[in-house]
Amino acid sequence: MRTSLAALVTLALALVVSAHEHDHEDQIPFNYVKYPYQATYPGDNEVTADSIFAGITTFAKLPWVQCLGRDRDTAFDIAFIGAPFDTGTSYRPGARFGPAGIRAGSRRLTLYGGYNVPLEVNPFLSGLKIVDCGDIPVTPYDNKYALKQIEEGHKELLHRRSYTPLGNDTLTGRPLAPISLDGKNHPRVVTLGGDHTIVLPLLRSIYSAYGPISVIHFDSHLDTWKPS
Ligand SMILES: *[C@@H]1O[C@H](CO)[C@@H](O)[C@H](O)[C@H]1NC(C)=O
Repeated sequence: MRTSLAALVTLALALVVSAHEHDHEDQIPFNYVKYPYQATYPGDNEVTADSIFAGITTFAKLPWVQCLGRDRDTAFDIAFIGAPFDTGTSYRPGARFGPAGIRAGSRRLTLYGGYNVPLEVNPFLSGLKIVDCGDIPVTPYDNKYALKQIEEGHKELLHRRSYTPLGNDTLTGRPLAPISLDGKNHPRVVTLGGDHTIVLPLLRSIYSAYGPISVIHFDSHLDTWKPS
């Protein structure tokens, strides 16, 4: 017992000594690893691997703002919002867990603050205010009512004024003009689904703010065609 304790003390001393022998400060700063409670977001590069598996999950661990509830007066530029709806599926439900699944998968975006290597950009450091608004409340019992909930929840966010005023065109330097029907700059809303049905209420909402729009559809196979 006494021998093993002595061995442990020796080992501890050896570790302390070796730590002093190498000047780690030149290689990795001592404060490199930040803990979640020290982290500030959006993506300020102060968050390291710890945060991927610790802490509360929001999209990319962005601040949670209850945009449809008590924080409705908080302005933002880009919002992530979930639409956990899947009762429009004919065969395999489960997409109602999509928003939560996407959020869980997006946790790694906190590593290096969300820097995109191929594109050489960090969208979280664009200077815009980016938040996670949580989910639109969606009933699983009545599809018609659920579509109304999604449309109205989306509309409510989309028609607000954005936090940051519209800047200048990076090419011409001229001030950008809003393309909305009311001539105001509105925030961008990224909706996490949800089955394909949610596209309909979202298009209705976007139409209400911008008029007729075009849709670019990315899919491994086209699920949305005419029933005939
Ligand atoms: C946009 O351009 C105007 C001049 O047209 C300039 O006064 C203003 O500072 C610019 N704004 C930004 C955000 O660069």
